[in-house]
Amino acid sequence: MNVKSDFFLDYIGKLRDRGVDLNYLAEKYGTPLYFIDGNVVKQNYENLRNAIHEVYDKFLICYAYKANTCIALLKLLNSLGAGAEVVSGGELYAAKLAGVPMDKVVFDGVSKSPGELSYAVFEGVLLINIENIDELYWINKFAEEFNIKVSVGVRVNFDIPTKTHSNISTGARIHKFGLNVENAFKAYSLASKLSHVHVAGIHVHIGSQITDIQPYSMVVDKVLSFCTELKKLLGLELEIIDLGGGFGIPYSIEDSVFPLNDYCKVIEKLEHASKEIFTSQPLLIIEPGRFIVGNAGILLTRVNYVKENYGVKWVLVDAGMNDLIRPALYGAHHPIYNLSSNEDIEIYNVGGPVCESSDVFGFDVKLNRVKRGDLLAIMNAGAYGFSMSSNYNSRPRPAVIMYYDGEVKLVRRRESYADLFSHEIF
Ligand SMILES: Cc1ncc(COP(=O)(O)O)c(C=O)c1O
Repeated sequence: MNVKSDFFLDYIGKLRDRGVDLNYLAEKYGTPLYFIDGNVVKQNYENLRNAIHEVYDKFLICYAYKANTCIALLKLLNSLGAGAEVVSGGELYAAKLAGVPMDKVVFDGVSKSPGELSYAVFEGVLLINIENIDELYWINKFAEEFNIKVSVGVRVNFDIPTKTHSNISTGARIHKFGLNVENAFKAYSLASKLSHVHVAGIHVHIGSQITDIQPYSMVVDKVLSFCTELKKLLGLELEIIDLGGGFGIPYSIEDSVFPLNDYCKVIEKLEHASKEIFTSQPLLIIEPGRFIVGNAGILLTRVNYVKENYGVKWVLVDAGMNDLIRPALYGAHHPIYNLSSNEDIEIYNVGGPVCESSDVFGFDVKLNRVKRGDLLAIMNAGAYGFSMSSNYNSRPRPAVIMYYDGEVKLVRRRESYADLFSHEIF
């Protein structure tokens, strides 16, 4: 028996108290269906903003678009003052659709195409963080064509391992991301000589779903000593420190919560130490994705069948790995609840309709007894859910609804069979 309170179940109860009936919404809009809670997004954003504000004056939270690019959600975050961290031309376009001012947009990416760089230069984003020395030539060329100077940062790979899943760890020497210290120095040296490049920042992002504070503390130490060396050896003083994202969230009631207070202590350390290095306080950028939207999303799915196979009870639902790939991709855990039953708990495997054995949302899941037609809620599906979805098995992607300030709105219509083939030429 678990002594911790089940905050996922509590949250479903709170939604009901606020008049949000997930069963009714699933009937109305059909399943599978993504539900986004804009109030939770707002709360997550404001908690983070207020906490950082206590310890650092000049900062910008650039929400990482890759976590979820639903435009209604982006517009909400824009209205709250968030900037954008984008990693593709498509995400930059989404920022424009959401009305985000370009001086709040950071363009990252390990393999940006010349076309994407030209687009970012043309739009006048706040900062382009490079991860390859050759990007500098492209940026300088495009900036010259548009007759502007472009602010550039360098993503440095300080070889900092993290305790997260290997597929979402990005800051160690084995990873493709960033430039090692020696090459980063070369990049800064070159950038400082290019006529249309302004050397502005440093960028580090060590991974995702991190709940341990020690790697962040290490990042700040490394960044500070790197900036000291940069000033001493190349005479460069940076204006922007971009510490990336990666703040983890609990996916089960056993998981730890991101220690925001400890993170703020790390930022406070940065604040104190930076007075020694910089003549004016650098702009601090952070790029959280999951922390802002992860617990604000639910994937609602209807049970097509319940069967027993070789002694195992299978619940087969209408959502698949094409809608939410995290369990199949990294064995990620998502809490699942039966919203249609109060009967005794039984143990099930929950699988989707896709023709892959990895299309399973959970093994040995405890659910109130399930029957055909029941509605299941797959929790914490707000980050890397819809944004990683696909049309695999020629499955139209789900509709998305968003709840905000007492109102539920359809913010993305369900794809049709015709949508699936609308780009085919035949
Ligand atoms: C460069 C960069 N910034 C920010 C993020 C956001 O990470 P998270 O959603 O874990 O905060 C990512 C995610 O991979 C990233 O690659």
